[in-house]
Amino acid sequence: MSLDVLHVVGARPNFMKAAPVIRALAAAGFQQNLIHTGQHYDSRMSDVFFRELEIPEPDVNLGVGSGSHAQQTAQIMASFETVVLERNPGLVMVYGDVNSTVAAALVCAKLRVQVAHVEAGLRSRDRSMPEEINRLLTDRLSDLLFTPSEDANENLEREGANAAQIHLVGNVMIDTLVRLLPRALEKKKTGFPERYALVTLHRPANVDDPEVLRGIMNSMHEVAKDLPVVFPVHPRTRLRIQEFAIATEGIQLCEPLSYLEFLAFEAHATVVLTDSGGIQEETTFLGVPCLTLRKNTERPITVEVGTNILVGNSVERLRSELTKIVDGHPKKGSIPPLWDGHAGERIAQRLRKTFPSFPASALAAARD
Ligand code: UD1
Repeated sequence: MSLDVLHVVGARPNFMKAAPVIRALAAAGFQQNLIHTGQHYDSRMSDVFFRELEIPEPDVNLGVGSGSHAQQTAQIMASFETVVLERNPGLVMVYGDVNSTVAAALVCAKLRVQVAHVEAGLRSRDRSMPEEINRLLTDRLSDLLFTPSEDANENLEREGANAAQIHLVGNVMIDTLVRLLPRALEKKKTGFPERYALVTLHRPANVDDPEVLRGIMNSMHEVAKDLPVVFPVHPRTRLRIQEFAIATEGIQLCEPLSYLEFLAFEAHATVVLTDSGGIQEETTFLGVPCLTLRKNTERPITVEVGTNILVGNSVERLRSELTKIVDGHPKKGSIPPLWDGHAGERIAQRLRKTFPSFPASALAAARD
């Protein structure tokens, strides 16, 4: 076994979670490798994030691309197994809840390589969400469980995880936001409508069924009567809008935005309408009202203490919550404990204690 840490990323939401951990581990002297599975491959879904978040070039890109869940997961497993056998890492770090996360964790568990899961313990309790399956399995397979909030610890304990495995470190995605918000606001200072709703939509449950997607887009047309609607469109959603021939007049569609551009739009928004997990967290941190187009969330803390409200697919609920916001009475929230920009450092400190013999990178470089 080598004493390297190997990080696995694959899809857009992984990048902002891995970036602060890679930085903190570099500062703590860990020797590291980065593997990109290629689950997201468009430059707007991947390359631009590496540049803006200053993530090192991946050492290997598995180039797996799109496919059914089984195909994608199986292809990542087959290719990643070869990498693990060649590189023999001391620890593999996986992030969030995407197919790349569970695929890498399963390979490591079978090869008896230690796995750390960053953003462990989140549960929507909705097994119709592919990410919920990924979360349950990844946590079950992982040796170290780094959690963003107390509710995640409770979920893991209830499921029988050993308390010694669980480490409440805070929210790594917020580390990236804290670091880059000033840069985002500096880079994009103008060009925002005075008031607007920012929309993101990509969950299969919302976009893959023509009637559901049509209903949501009708709601967006309703919203557009009150506020300009800015909608950076995920590739999957764009495909569906075209396939189902859904009308988009009156809504400002654009290509997926870069991290810095999106953050600037989010920070200035009157309201964000989303089905994303990470955006529920970012808006809570920013104090921007968020209406989540889902019936449940794996991030309940954003509803309990943050600015998030679940509106499901009810047009009436969306309308009534939107009216309050437009009338100047949005839900007020606060920032959860440990969402402070230092979660990555807490992970590095914990790993130093757990693996005191991991070499400093300078030593490793000299050895190579
Ligand atoms: C994945 C994650 C989801 C995450 C989302 C963020 C899983 C199960 N889902 O969903 O949790 O919130 O990423 O974006 O891992 N496509 C492109 N270019 C790309 C990537 C995808 O055009 O670079 C298109 C393809 O048509 C593809 C579809 O988007 O089939 C879906 O991509 P996929 O990676 O399967 O899942 P996402 O919906 O992006």
